[in-house]
Amino acid sequence: MKNNYIEEFVKMTVDTPKKAYVRSFGCQLNISDGEKIKGLLKSMGCILTDDENDADIIILNTCAVRENAEDRVFGIVGSMKKLKELKPSLIIGISGCMTAQEHIAEKIKKSYPQVDFVVGTSALSSIPRLLSECLKGQKFGVDISEYDDFSQETVQVRDSSFKASVPIMFGCNNFCTYCIVPYVRGRERSRRQEDIVSEVKKLVQNGYKEIMLLGQNVNSYGNDLGEKNAFPKLLRALDRIEGDFIIRFMSSHPKDATKELIDTIFECDKVAKHLHLPLQSGSSDVLHRMNRRYTAEKYLETVDYIRSKDPDFSLTTDLIVGFPNETDKDFDATLDIIKRVKYDNIYSFIYSKRSGTRAAEMDDATTDDVKSQRMRQLLEVQREISSENYRRFVGRKMRVLVDDISKKREGYVTGKSNEFIIVEFEGDKSLIGQFADVEITDAMNWAVLGRMI
Ligand code: SAM
Ligand code: SF4
Ligand code: F3S
Repeated sequence: MKNNYIEEFVKMTVDTPKKAYVRSFGCQLNISDGEKIKGLLKSMGCILTDDENDADIIILNTCAVRENAEDRVFGIVGSMKKLKELKPSLIIGISGCMTAQEHIAEKIKKSYPQVDFVVGTSALSSIPRLLSECLKGQKFGVDISEYDDFSQETVQVRDSSFKASVPIMFGCNNFCTYCIVPYVRGRERSRRQEDIVSEVKKLVQNGYKEIMLLGQNVNSYGNDLGEKNAFPKLLRALDRIEGDFIIRFMSSHPKDATKELIDTIFECDKVAKHLHLPLQSGSSDVLHRMNRRYTAEKYLETVDYIRSKDPDFSLTTDLIVGFPNETDKDFDATLDIIKRVKYDNIYSFIYSKRSGTRAAEMDDATTDDVKSQRMRQLLEVQREISSENYRRFVGRKMRVLVDDISKKREGYVTGKSNEFIIVEFEGDKSLIGQFADVEITDAMNWAVLGRMI
């Protein structure tokens, strides 16, 4: 059925191919979906463009994790009214996590007449049908139906020629009380190990140097297939693939970060020596109310096990400031943990109320001013930790995958080390996409500097 609509679209546009612009917001899983939407549009004969002003079709692939993410998209959709007035044949579609909420789909239909269709995260294979209907002049189209397996099969048009994201599972079962993701992405669905291994093999053969495995909780990969320890097994299978490449993954839920996983990281040469372990809060009481299912003590046991193997091991985390009724004492507990763990980087967010989640029903006496003040304090403490932390790399050799030319220093390039640290050193664009060995000469609070060996 799906192919019929692709064929129909191709027939309708064969003489005047459509230019398509796709913009993704939010996490890497959504960006990966955006690459699949591009792949689908290309298979329909569309020409991809990076210029929305030049496009005949615009798809905004949205994120709903925080209110400001949604506001941003509404702002952009609002500004597209002008584009549509200039080009009435322009087709505007909205996909991604925002649309998986019925009230948002309704709001778009009611308040943004410039939008032609809305498609949910699990109904992306309906895009050919929705686009064909638009070409035939049909008004607003919606498909936010439940899951199909589009995301597992479509060939991606990748944004990078050397870094590839590979989703290993979709959805989330954890229902952290603040989080909208399980509502908009559904329950966990894991891909088969052999499919992932064969995709990674092809990517490595095609010259990809970094493979980023993606899932909302990669540690529970395979649970739905009835397999135990499936994620460490997958890492070991990927590590055996021949070639010069690095394997990264995110995110790891601390409740499922087992010793087996940590041992695997240390034993697999190609697996990066870095772990992103989202803490969210240092207070066990807040963690309980967040339904995170670990305590601060349990989290620290995991950190201690990692650091017993390598005291310098690089850790990063996510933190939420101002969860409903977070007290000064709770916040101080978060500061205590970040001082103890000494993360190389933190990603911190002020709590955002998401309608439909359990936390949205909780009383919250903490004012916005207090939340903002805590956020500033957290960032200040982390800035000091990072600049002190990064000094441990001075004098060491780091292997760096070069990403781009530096925007801060002329004549320099920038890349990420195995430990996920930003490294800048003198070099030119011919190094982009290559590994380089770099001796670290200086440290700042956001990156280290070095010279190529
Ligand atoms: N699955 C990942 C995990 O559990 O670590 C995280 C996925 S979520 C897309 C990324 C981060 O957004 C979370 O780790 C959390 O810190 C933050 N986040 C999620 N919901 C939020 C909310 N309602 N308000 C503020 N931050 C939120
Ligand atoms: Fe959201 Fe929690 Fe699932 Fe992460 S594990 S996506 S924070 S519900
Ligand atoms: Fe946002 Fe959806 Fe990812 S809500 S963070 S794009 S899974």
